[in-house]
Amino acid sequence: MIVKGKHYKTVWLEGNTVKIINQAVLPHKFEITECPDHQRTARAISTMIIRGAGAIGTAAGFGMAQAVLEAPEKDFEAYIRNARTSLRNTRPTAQNLFYSIERVFRCIQETTDPEQARIRAVMEAEAIALEDINACKQIGEIGAKLIQNNFKVLTHCNAGWLAFTDWGTALSPIYVAKREHKNIFVWVDETRPRFQGARLTAWELQEEQIPYAVIADNAAGFYMQRGEVDLVIVGSDRIARNGDVANKIGTYEKAVLAKEHDIPFYVAAPTSTIDWDCTHGGDIPIEERSESEVVSVTGRDEVNNLRTVFIVPEGAKARNPAFDVTPAAYITGIITEKGIVAPEKLAKLKNK
Ligand code: MRU
Repeated sequence: MIVKGKHYKTVWLEGNTVKIINQAVLPHKFEITECPDHQRTARAISTMIIRGAGAIGTAAGFGMAQAVLEAPEKDFEAYIRNARTSLRNTRPTAQNLFYSIERVFRCIQETTDPEQARIRAVMEAEAIALEDINACKQIGEIGAKLIQNNFKVLTHCNAGWLAFTDWGTALSPIYVAKREHKNIFVWVDETRPRFQGARLTAWELQEEQIPYAVIADNAAGFYMQRGEVDLVIVGSDRIARNGDVANKIGTYEKAVLAKEHDIPFYVAAPTSTIDWDCTHGGDIPIEERSESEVVSVTGRDEVNNLRTVFIVPEGAKARNPAFDVTPAAYITGIITEKGIVAPEKLAKLKNK
């Protein structure tokens, strides 16, 4: 997408260096972080300099390619296996991370020549990035048909272009609908504790000049009850074979509210987010993050410095599950690059 007149992807490979838009400091600063080796790419993923299922998938694919480029010939296989383990250990929930790592790893198993392996690894990682962009663009075109003129759409967290390589999933239909000259208004859940909605979705929509309002996470029911939400679209980090969907914490309660108010609730995700080995949502690993994210907030002060302040009594305990699972029964449809399917019909996509 375009930032200050220039086209950016969230992550790209330049030589041996992975370059990443630093999402930890957005919207206050626009910075590119350089990761010259796979260890630093892994660290950028675990510290959430880059976040969002598709974006960390692409970054991890590039991280694997970096490992293959770095691997000393006498220790080639062991070096790459270690890198694969450290990249796999960065974040547990997003399926795209594992999808990309394993794709790059598999593609180099087909050769014993290190030079060939280097070429293949880079090509495979670039192919993953391109497929992610194309799938997200398709999701936008398919999903835009659900958005009527003057619709008010609610979204949770950030499943925009920052969460993928480009375009995004939940926001992609909104971007396409805007290009089709539809009037759209977006309710943006702030998405505590890391505020991906307030910080990132709001920033993306502002850059795209799409009207929106950030709302407290507990305000969605209020607007649904008043008839001010026509449609909900969220992203996903992992989809189980039965159509249960893991997404950012707070998604489940929005789905329950949407059903109560007869509001269509759609999940937008590329098929690379589907974990065909996972039979139901209860088997999806849910990341539990540091309590520091719940007890403090970081923002910009009046002189534009980033500051962290504490909002609880000293010594307060907190819990911080990063995702929840929305059962298939609450989901109207899953918007993929291959079409929209009811969650219970997900299997139709497997060999499509
Ligand atoms: O913890 P994050 O910010 O990496 O969370 C992932 C997400 O971006 C959201 O859950 C999003 O809604 C899914 S779409 C990638």
